[in-house]
Amino acid sequence: MEPEQRAAELRQLIEHHNVAYHTNDAPEIPDAEYDALVRELAEIEAEHPELVVADSPTQQVGGPVSTLFAPVEHSVPMMSLDNVFTADELTAWADRVARGLDLGEGSRPIGFVTEMKIDGVACSLRYEDGELVQAATRGNGKVGEDITANVRGIDVIPHSLGDAAPPVIEVRGEVYLPVSTFDALNESQEAAGLPRYANPRNTAAGSLRQKDPAVTAGRGLKFWSYQLGQVAGGPELTSHSQSLDWLDELGFPVNPERRVVERIDDVKALADDWLDRRHELDYDIDGAVVKVDSLARQRSLGSTAKAPRWAIAVKFPPEERTTTLLDIQVSIGRTGKATPFAVLDPVFVGGSTVQMATLHNDDQVRLKDVRPGDTVTVRKAGDVIPEVLGPVLSKRDPDSEPWVFPSNCPVCAELLVRPDGEAHTFCVNPVCPAQQQARLEYFASRGAMDIDGFGEQTVRTFVGEGLIHDIGDIYSIDWDRASELEGFGEVTIQNLQRSIEVTKQRPLASLLVGLGVRHLGPSAAEVLAKSFGHMDKIATATAEEIAAVDGVGPKIAAVVAEYFATDGAKALIEKFRAAGVNLEGPEVLDIPQTLEGKAVVVTGGLENYSRTGAADAIKARGGKSPGSVSKKTFAVVVGNEPGASKVTKAEELGIPMIDEAAFETLLDTGEIES
Ligand code: IVH
Repeated sequence: MEPEQRAAELRQLIEHHNVAYHTNDAPEIPDAEYDALVRELAEIEAEHPELVVADSPTQQVGGPVSTLFAPVEHSVPMMSLDNVFTADELTAWADRVARGLDLGEGSRPIGFVTEMKIDGVACSLRYEDGELVQAATRGNGKVGEDITANVRGIDVIPHSLGDAAPPVIEVRGEVYLPVSTFDALNESQEAAGLPRYANPRNTAAGSLRQKDPAVTAGRGLKFWSYQLGQVAGGPELTSHSQSLDWLDELGFPVNPERRVVERIDDVKALADDWLDRRHELDYDIDGAVVKVDSLARQRSLGSTAKAPRWAIAVKFPPEERTTTLLDIQVSIGRTGKATPFAVLDPVFVGGSTVQMATLHNDDQVRLKDVRPGDTVTVRKAGDVIPEVLGPVLSKRDPDSEPWVFPSNCPVCAELLVRPDGEAHTFCVNPVCPAQQQARLEYFASRGAMDIDGFGEQTVRTFVGEGLIHDIGDIYSIDWDRASELEGFGEVTIQNLQRSIEVTKQRPLASLLVGLGVRHLGPSAAEVLAKSFGHMDKIATATAEEIAAVDGVGPKIAAVVAEYFATDGAKALIEKFRAAGVNLEGPEVLDIPQTLEGKAVVVTGGLENYSRTGAADAIKARGGKSPGSVSKKTFAVVVGNEPGASKVTKAEELGIPMIDEAAFETLLDTGEIES
């Protein structure tokens, strides 16, 4: 794949996971995997600087700002940290620091503060004349959320600082939930028959972002301070360690496990020690943070767009635990793919309890040679996807036999097939109930047609009652019969009817994704919808014609063409047509590409465009609509109550600022009217 394509793909993935992590507090991949994506993108960008764009995730911090709380603009940006994962990478960082300070290479004394990297939620506290006036989340680093009312309920955070307080002080640190509090919370959840919380970090994030401050106050959140933001007045400070001592004196909780060391090798010893002792602590840590102690040296090293050069996070390797592999079972997905998975004796690893883990395919099981009854090593980097690494052979029962992939589908009992050259095994029975269920759920899911209220349970009931068989049936459900089912009262039925009705207007790309064709994801669906313009044209195109579309590879093209050649696909399209489901693509090709390659930033509210509407209008004309102003910005559209930082930046860089009327001219002509 071309670096440009891969960079675009990585950006999309990273943005998706940013929203999952920061906005929804529900990460979908382990931290280590996320870090790997960011690194890969950073490496491509380092090799191809021309591919760096202002709104690349490598240039930004954290996720988008949500609308639940009022926005707060940070007076000093809340930056992120770059990561290292190995001792060599840490040495390389220290060498860069030494070079940056003209000290030359090697383990010379530089003076570092080493702190624990607390796995919680970053927060900035602002005090004016000694009083807590504002607390904010990090948000995107420039603008966070106002969580003052909630933070007032965290007992270790002082409301007033007394006589020693400077006129202005901003304290940055991490809000966290002690592990013991987390455990107690889960015990009471369990006692009440409610689901367990996944891990302390996500629970802290959720607790902090409650609408009702009383809920936050009852959760027992704590705080460690580790950095100063804006300060006016106050003592003369020359080192970071002094600033931490000062915070301590002012009454802020500062983690006592901090150390000032001269050389990078001392940092490594400390980080190793903390790794060994991490489970003795009543809070989760996911690494160590190393900061150059001298503030003068920090200033001379400076920062990149995203992170300071004077600090680095040393990330711990993912945690590992052993448990018993109770069984290996096979699940059937929407494409018929038969995926083996491990059923484990529940084990607490990486911050949550794991009971199941995918084993991917037959080859993987054979390669790992894991067998039911084995003691196995399980890893779970960060928060989510658990992985079985392999068996502990010394504990294997001498009579155990290798596991054999079943020859029949566990759901419909038809023969399973492993096509030549394929890593996966499939149930090829098109009416297999497991596939039907999975296809229907997928069609209704967020990434596809997004049918509100049409989840796993509803699908199961409707399929079970014979009301639907395939995704085309969703638009001709016998509602009289449905309303006779238990749990489907008048309101539920009306809501379902309404949520199905609105999906008839969804973009063609959503419908294409909803078909559940193997490999056909949202980005390929989008380009197919745009370039063919109609479902019928896609359905009758040859594999070559499909592969000729920019952004669609030969593999996807072959699968798509093969799919549409089937009678089943033809029948589905007719069902959609009869129901009045939109089969037309966006008319982008007819819109003159007036903004080709131009970046137009929109700030503040417009009369005739919503925020996304304005961005869509720009993109439909070939332009980009980044979230921040840079020297590459072509124009800034200024609406009501614009963001102060964008306006200031545009002024500084001499970027033209235009009103809504001039924006419309710009859309039409690509020019700024004078
Ligand atoms: S210093 C400009 N120190 O890690 C430097 N951050 O991955 C700002 N974190 O956003 C951060 N413990 O949320 C710093 N001792 C520590 C930390 C720490 C945890 C978090 C913080 C930061 C993130 C970066």
